[in-house]
Amino acid sequence: MNLKNTLFLATLTLFFLSCSNDSTDDLTEVIPVDQTVKFSDVKSIMDNNCNNCHGNPTTNGAPISLVTYDNVKTAIEQHGLIERMSIENGGDGLMPQGGPRLPQATIDVVIKWQTDGFQQ
Ligand code: HEC
Repeated sequence: MNLKNTLFLATLTLFFLSCSNDSTDDLTEVIPVDQTVKFSDVKSIMDNNCNNCHGNPTTNGAPISLVTYDNVKTAIEQHGLIERMSIENGGDGLMPQGGPRLPQATIDVVIKWQTDGFQQ
């Protein structure tokens, strides 16, 4: 094998090695599937991603608060909260407004809260 090919292979190997992801930042809100989702899990998602606008009082033109248990349950049942979080990046109406779309694992926590029957 000549030098040029060897260098090419070495670069390729380095490239793939650098693709591993050791960050756990985006894993903090993942709930194991066999565990019931509680409102406290959903509340931290709202507080971290939504309530700079959907607080109480609301700011930046947000029409509803997402602070209390009833706020969030009503928003899921009547204001399409899960649908709004699930719109693709760049899509019209995506929440959080202006994006980026939250990781699917985070959206799944909210979906599971509904499936589990809105546990307190
Ligand atoms: C930068 C401010 C901002 C952030 C952050 C934000 N929103 Fe919003 N949200 C708005 C505004 C403004 C509207 C009204 C315009 C619209 O419907 O798109 C809105 C509308 C909504 C609506 C529809 C309400 C209705 O009555 O129809 C839902 C549901 C919603 N947001 C959920 C969320 C969720 C969930 C998050 C976090 C994942 C979030 N938003 C983050 C500003 C924000």
